[in-house]
Amino acid sequence: MNTEAGKTALITGASNGIGQELAKLFAKDGYNLVLIGRNDDKLQQLAEGFEQDYGVQTTVIAKDLSRENVAEEVYNEVTGRGLTINVLVNDAAVSTYGKFATDTDWEREKALIHLNVLTLTHMTKLFLKDMVTRNEGKILQLASLVAITPFPLMAVYAATKAYVYNFTQSLNNELKDTNVTVTALLPNATDTNFFREAGAPQLNVEDQLDDPAVVAKDGYDALMSGKLKVIPGGAMNKAYEVMAYTMPQETLAGMMRHYNTPKEESEREKESSSTTSAWALGLGIAAAVVAGVALVTAYNNADALTRARYRYKATKLKYKANSVLDDAKEALVDSWDKVKHNVQNATTTA
Ligand SMILES: NC(=O)c1ccc[n+]([C@@H]2O[C@H](COP(=O)([O-])OP(=O)(O)OC[C@H]3O[C@@H](n4cnc5c(N)ncnc54)[C@H](OP(=O)(O)O)[C@@H]3O)[C@@H](O)[C@H]2O)c1
Repeated sequence: MNTEAGKTALITGASNGIGQELAKLFAKDGYNLVLIGRNDDKLQQLAEGFEQDYGVQTTVIAKDLSRENVAEEVYNEVTGRGLTINVLVNDAAVSTYGKFATDTDWEREKALIHLNVLTLTHMTKLFLKDMVTRNEGKILQLASLVAITPFPLMAVYAATKAYVYNFTQSLNNELKDTNVTVTALLPNATDTNFFREAGAPQLNVEDQLDDPAVVAKDGYDALMSGKLKVIPGGAMNKAYEVMAYTMPQETLAGMMRHYNTPKEESEREKESSSTTSAWALGLGIAAAVVAGVALVTAYNNADALTRARYRYKATKLKYKANSVLDDAKEALVDSWDKVKHNVQNATTTA
């Protein structure tokens, strides 16, 4: 469908993951593209494909966006070519992995802050000014669900995403009398190169990764309708938002730490103690409460047919809650058996 022929979208981080999926959606809708990343070959290959498949014009700018003044270089290159940017997507970002005090490298963290914060802010400033002058334009900022939760072992990354989210919401207010919109996209963990690029081993969070194509589509739709923010994916991701604003920060940090822990480490811990089961029980109950609250709110605002569907969902939720309680019972019996066994052993040795 060629709905936006002649308009141009600039996408950073277009060579992979969510950015690549977003570029495809823009191309499908007839946007000309400016594709940015470090991997020139990959970007050229994608550009060729978009030109052939969708008949759009593409410009590739291969640059390391974590360098000093790089946003200005991009802006000068784009305007020098006579291009007007109607949509800016600030997608490129990286993380490090490990404990801030002892594991991670400061030079990588400095580059990360430069890319995720400084370049994003400067790109926004340069292109937003022109959009406001034209009184037309849209910006999509890649934040994350960890913008609203602590994320141990990726502490600096999470802090940069909190910046992006907060920055975006303030801009939205400043722009409310214009036709320019800024949308924050807050994905949950998504199936891209992100965790490997951060240097993380296989993590618990990778058991439940979202599809980058779905994340991009939800972000794209929200951007097009000028929403302030969007949490892509299913109801569980929306429930995380409620949890983020209602759970005590310390509990939330513990939960997020578990997600960001290497799978191998968790497997070992599971074998030696029942703490993970108890923790998982807490999360299960919290999720059930959040889902219950969401269901009641939706039920109260629904028509008769939808209410019947919600009653069905509520029954399923009840079964889930029962199964969580069964797990709890098993976990308790299991740890009681372990304690009994240890006491018996201790008595025999004494
Ligand atoms: N995956 C997740 O779980 C997740 C969850 C929430 C939010 N997000 C956010 O979604 C966005 C996209 O991440 P992704 O998951 O799609 O990761 P990804 O697959 O690793 O893609 C990252 C993109 O950023 C580009 N990039 C990285 N460093 C760069 C640099 N110094 N200069 C220029 N470009 C650079 C990469 O291109 P080159 O390699 O060609 O430079 C790549 O195209 C990020 O803002 C991330 O924070 C991701």
